[in-house]
Amino acid sequence: MSAMSEPASSVAEEMAEFRRDAPVRVAELASLAELEDAVPSLTGKRSPLAGWKRALAGLAPDERRAVGLVLNEVANEVDALVALRRADLAATERRERVALDRLDLTEVLDGPLPGHLHLVTQVREELEDVFVGMGYEVADGPEAETEWYNFTALNMPRDHAARSNQDSFYLATGDHESHLLRTQTSPVQIRLLERGVLPLYAVAPGRVYRRDTSDARHLPVFHQIEGIAVDRGVTFGDLAGTIETFVAAIFGSGISSRLRPAYFPFTEPSAEFEITCTICRGEGCRTCGQTGWIELGGCGMVHPAVLESTGVDSETWTGFAFGFGIDRLAMMRHEVEDIRSLIENDVRFLTQF
Ligand code: DAH
Repeated sequence: MSAMSEPASSVAEEMAEFRRDAPVRVAELASLAELEDAVPSLTGKRSPLAGWKRALAGLAPDERRAVGLVLNEVANEVDALVALRRADLAATERRERVALDRLDLTEVLDGPLPGHLHLVTQVREELEDVFVGMGYEVADGPEAETEWYNFTALNMPRDHAARSNQDSFYLATGDHESHLLRTQTSPVQIRLLERGVLPLYAVAPGRVYRRDTSDARHLPVFHQIEGIAVDRGVTFGDLAGTIETFVAAIFGSGISSRLRPAYFPFTEPSAEFEITCTICRGEGCRTCGQTGWIELGGCGMVHPAVLESTGVDSETWTGFAFGFGIDRLAMMRHEVEDIRSLIENDVRFLTQF
């Protein structure tokens, strides 16, 4: 063996090893980026192939040819491996990109979700239906009221304590505190009585406004429904019967109502009406404070001062009135825990009703 054959044979061994390992090394490259990073050390200037090519010059001519042939083969093989792997990775990465970008169009295949009335509107319409069934008319009143309709005519003069319980949004029109967003639907009672058409049986649903910070039980804008019945010989018993009837119609059997003494300036006597707790059905739970009852609204016999303030003769006519929150009633019926979910416009919530 010549002195030159030593490096030649060790080069041959190294090339054989490189050739054997190349497919595994190339297969391990997991992305196009990794592959491009590895190319210089596989087939480029920093690869052993480049070193061996340079070393050819020092070999004897016949060895140079033999080693050169193999070197070419190995270089071509590795080039081919890299090209194949590059095509593979490019295809995979394109597929992944397309999958990521793909829009799920099945959602719109059936067309957009059909809309429906808001839960509060549904309940309002049901209440209207129940009362229309009992011979009531459905009335309406302005949301921007004068303090006379919202308070004074309802037997709540300017210094009346009850005014401060209903923190108001006053409007910057006219005199100081002369106009406000109604804090209750009760002013519609006055507007109906003023018409002077008796007997009167009416309900008036609508928005009311109070300067409350919203929390799970309060919103600054919510809904009430007012009821008023004025006729000859109307009694407190008629009031109790009317409330029992509408509670049964809205909540079904198993939920009943009861009245408890209370105070409202525009009724005398006044009562709060409660219904069986819809969560525990009267057993007692956290929602009803273990009482089995939940307060729904206020009611009473229309105060003679209210009748007189609208020119109705309180000797001839008597009546009852009631008012309660529609949102609260909807919450109780559907076990909605947070009143704010009614106004958040989350389709996942709204589509349940
Ligand atoms: N307006 C009262 C409120 O918002 C509710 C109310 C109580 C209405 C008694 C009535 C009534 O008609 O008689 O708190």
